[in-house]
Amino acid sequence: MTTQRVEEWTLKRVQGDVLRVPSAVLFLIAVAKHKSMTDEQLLDLAREAAAKAYAPYSNFHVGCAIESVDGEVVTGANMENACYRLGLCAEQSALTAAQHKFGLDKIARIAVVGGADATVCTPCGGCRQAILEAAQLSGRDVEILCASGDGSTVEQHRISELLPFGFGPANLEQQA
Ligand code: THU
Repeated sequence: MTTQRVEEWTLKRVQGDVLRVPSAVLFLIAVAKHKSMTDEQLLDLAREAAAKAYAPYSNFHVGCAIESVDGEVVTGANMENACYRLGLCAEQSALTAAQHKFGLDKIARIAVVGGADATVCTPCGGCRQAILEAAQLSGRDVEILCASGDGSTVEQHRISELLPFGFGPANLEQQA
C-alpha cells in the first residue's frame, strides 16, 4: 500500500473564528457528504417515486431519485398524457426537480427503477441525453444505478457508458 503525506491540520474559518481542524476529519466529512446514502436507500426512494407514477396508458411505472454531491435528494416519476407524445419520463421529471433544488451541476448519482419484472430499467435515449447535459456541466461522469421493478436486479453504470460519443454543452463551448 502506498501512503501519501498530507498536512495533519487545516485552518478553517468558522463563523469568524479560525479553527485548527484535523485534516482527517475534513476528509471524512467530504466523503460522507459525497455518498451520504447507500445504493439501496437511493434505489428505495426511486421505488417509492415509481409508486406515484401517472402511467395509465403504458402501465409501466418508473421512479427516479437523484442525489447531489452534498447528499440532497430529489425524486420524480413518469407522467403520461392522453396525447401520448407529451408523456414525461421519470428521469426528466427528477432532473427538473434537481435543477430547482441544487442545480444540475451538483448531481452525483441517479437511481432508476421501473417495470414490474426482473428486466433492469435503463434510461431511454432522451433521458441519457438529459443526464449528459448535467454530467458535462459538472465535469462528472455521473453514476446511474438501474434496477428492475421486482427488486431482483441492479446494474451500476456511468453516463459515459450509456451514451458514448454524446453531443452536449461541451460541443457548443466554442459558440459562447
Ligand atoms: N419511461 C421513463 O420514465 N423513463 C425511461 O427511461 C424509460 C421509459 C417511461 C415513459 C413511459 O411513460 C413509460 O415509461 C413507457 O415507456
